[in-house]
Amino acid sequence: MKLLCRFLIAIATAIASGANPAQATAEYRLTTILPWISKNSTSVDLGIVVNGTYYLSDRTNAVVHIVDLASSTETGRITGFKGATIINGTVNKPTSGPNGLLYIPGRNELYVGDGDGSVKIVDLSKNTIVDTIPLGISKRADEMTYDANNKLAIVTGPDDDIAILAFISVTDRKIIHKISFDNATNGIEQPVWNPADGLVYVSVPESNVNTGGEIDVIETTNFTTTKILPVTNCSSHGIVFGPSNQLLLGCSQDAILADSVGHTLVVDVTTGKTVETIDGIGGADQVAYNPTLNYYYVAAYQYQVNGSATGAADPKVGIIDAATGTLLQTLKTDNVTAHAVAVDPKTNKMMIPLAGKGIAIYDFVVGTSTTTATATTATATVMTTSAANRLGVCSVSLFSFVVAVFFGAGVA
Ligand SMILES: *[C@@H]1O[C@H](CO)[C@@H](O)[C@H](O)[C@H]1NC(C)=O
Ligand SMILES: *[C@@H]1O[C@H](CO)[C@@H](O)[C@H](O)[C@H]1NC(C)=O
Ligand SMILES: *[C@@H]1O[C@H](CO)[C@@H](O)[C@H](O)[C@H]1NC(C)=O
Ligand SMILES: *[C@@H]1O[C@H](CO)[C@@H](O)[C@H](O)[C@H]1NC(C)=O
Ligand SMILES: *[C@@H]1O[C@H](CO)[C@@H](O)[C@H](O)[C@H]1NC(C)=O
Ligand SMILES: *[C@@H]1O[C@H](CO)[C@@H](O)[C@H](O)[C@H]1NC(C)=O
Ligand SMILES: *[C@@H]1O[C@H](CO)[C@@H](O)[C@H](O)[C@H]1NC(C)=O
Ligand SMILES: *[C@@H]1O[C@H](CO)[C@@H](O)[C@H](O)[C@H]1NC(C)=O
Repeated sequence: MKLLCRFLIAIATAIASGANPAQATAEYRLTTILPWISKNSTSVDLGIVVNGTYYLSDRTNAVVHIVDLASSTETGRITGFKGATIINGTVNKPTSGPNGLLYIPGRNELYVGDGDGSVKIVDLSKNTIVDTIPLGISKRADEMTYDANNKLAIVTGPDDDIAILAFISVTDRKIIHKISFDNATNGIEQPVWNPADGLVYVSVPESNVNTGGEIDVIETTNFTTTKILPVTNCSSHGIVFGPSNQLLLGCSQDAILADSVGHTLVVDVTTGKTVETIDGIGGADQVAYNPTLNYYYVAAYQYQVNGSATGAADPKVGIIDAATGTLLQTLKTDNVTAHAVAVDPKTNKMMIPLAGKGIAIYDFVVGTSTTTATATTATATVMTTSAANRLGVCSVSLFSFVVAVFFGAGVA
């Protein structure tokens, strides 16, 4: 019934959009796994794509992996980072690195947040570290964003007693300002600069004012917090801009554990209003957006069955249509390293680090089959759309609509 429903929706979508039906069934399939070099990683941070090359920070191996996406091969590794600090048998993230990654356009440089509280600058023509900028903090430098107007690398120091945001001028590699997040009670997460308004948006998972999280909006010439967008039941980690001022918030496992709420939100930053709530996908860390397909990607590695605090671990990645807020597909992952997701807008390839396996590359392929796709080492499950769920999974009205359109009979 569910498969039939998906098929009918695909046909209906194809007819509505004027596309051929096969295109509507295109989906992600696991095609390649690049085994871990040199050890199986148990702790990675971020994956990013720069002009057809994928970079992944790997604390276990103390490297940034370099993968050429045209050929799906690992071409090298950048070394010189702190690596994993092991305390009582587990990786202590606040003192480990590499962590966040940021490409600096026009300079061919990669900024890497390290576990010693510094940002390491990599010259990508040689793949070597050429400079180190200490942030004056005792724990790691983490996530980053780039302000193209003012040529600033904006870096978080989330794990010191008071979380900070540092603004580095990329032309002279100097810190020009630091902001303290005195009200943040559980660090800070992803910052993201919005080219549409020139402001930086900071994901704050929890504050003394907003226990379900908030997005702080900061002006980058006088460094004032211009507004705070409160969020409920989210405790966001990764955030990313999609189309027209829409900010997708990857809600973390904290929202599942605190309130049994497992969802992903889309906020219109011009109004601060939540415009989409995507159920069935939460417990997230990194999120990504692909303008080519207009899709969001959510690394829901700490999702739990039914979004319930007592639900079993149900790690997955979710792919969301940004135009409709529909959860198009989920694929099973793991709750160890699969908290990073990146996508290449050129090839549409999606990359996820899988524990005990390697760097997984998923191709966006046109499938004629709507059955469950199984790859060698991970299971890909095509889900019914949330639109279908809202309609009560293939309701009679949708069925007759599709039949009517399909046979040119008009809607009864
Ligand atoms: C992107 O990569 C292609 C080759 O893969 C190269 O020709 C082009 O100059 C690169 N663009 C930038 C902006 O680096
Ligand atoms: C490591 O474990 C020992 C024994 O359980 C404990 O006393 C100590 O506080 C732990 N250290 C840290 C840094 O968690
Ligand atoms: C910080 O919290 C206090 C209340 O404890 C509040 O008055 C103040 O506006 C908050 N500041 C920010 C920047 O959120
Ligand atoms: C900071 O800059 C913005 C934009 O120019 C302006 O609206 C705001 O008033 C400034 N704030 C302060 C405190 O100077
Ligand atoms: C959302 O969070 C609030 C405050 O923590 C809580 O009262 C409410 O029940 C939560 N909503 C849901 C749907 O669980
Ligand atoms: C999930 O929720 C559905 C509907 O509320 C329920 O029937 C099902 O038993 C739940 N599954 C688990 C594993 O709790
Ligand atoms: C990760 O998943 C395993 C089952 O695969 C589960 O036993 C474990 O509790 C999960 N850990 C976390 C932190 O969710
Ligand atoms: C990684 O783990 C898998 C599964 O345990 C094992 O087969 C493989 O040899 C390991 N690879 C490395 C590089 O240690």
